[in-house]
Amino acid sequence: MPPEAAPTRKLTAPQHPLLMHKLSLMRDIRTGVKEFRELAAEVSLLLAYEAMRDLETAPETLSTPLATAEFPMLSGKKLALVAILRAGLIMTESMVRLIPAAKVGHIGLYRDPVSLEPVAYYSKLPQDISERRVFLTDPMLATGGSAVAAIDTLKAAGAQSIKLMTILSVPEGIKRVHDAHPDVEIVTAAIDDGLNDHGYIVPGLGDAGDRIYGTK
Ligand code: URA
Repeated sequence: MPPEAAPTRKLTAPQHPLLMHKLSLMRDIRTGVKEFRELAAEVSLLLAYEAMRDLETAPETLSTPLATAEFPMLSGKKLALVAILRAGLIMTESMVRLIPAAKVGHIGLYRDPVSLEPVAYYSKLPQDISERRVFLTDPMLATGGSAVAAIDTLKAAGAQSIKLMTILSVPEGIKRVHDAHPDVEIVTAAIDDGLNDHGYIVPGLGDAGDRIYGTK
């Protein structure tokens, strides 16, 4: 019997100047709620462009006003965009404009006060998730606890193909996700130095949810 293929640990961090510039504006403490939200939506679209680079296409015959020819159209598995509540919402809401036929799921997590581990309190996912390519969104990959719990939830629901999309990540979080789920590719705009004592990404951008929703 051939040996089982070693799982790949995939990480994509596109160093695109436009992405870097918009992310730097998001980091800036002077950036207010409206601009932060707009930037988060734009960064999500740029990340989606990268994360969806390997979507399958197949030729279809179409007529332009001048000629009939074969042109590539999306084919293969349909997509599901799944947000980790609440900060992931801005990413899926933005991405659904790009892929209007995608189904959208939501996973809510709270931190258990004793174990400090995230526990899923809410999960509403497309019924046919096992047949879809899943793009899971959370702007901040910090300790990785939430991402791992959300991926556990997705896999328990049957998801087989998952990419995690984050705006900022740290090596600890990347390692934790890859250790638990080596099959999951992470697509992130940037990888920061690490976490402070409160689990915040440094230099980071602060609390993504608070900056998106103007809460404290
Ligand atoms: N979640 C955030 O919103 N910000 C961080 O820096 C870490 C986790």
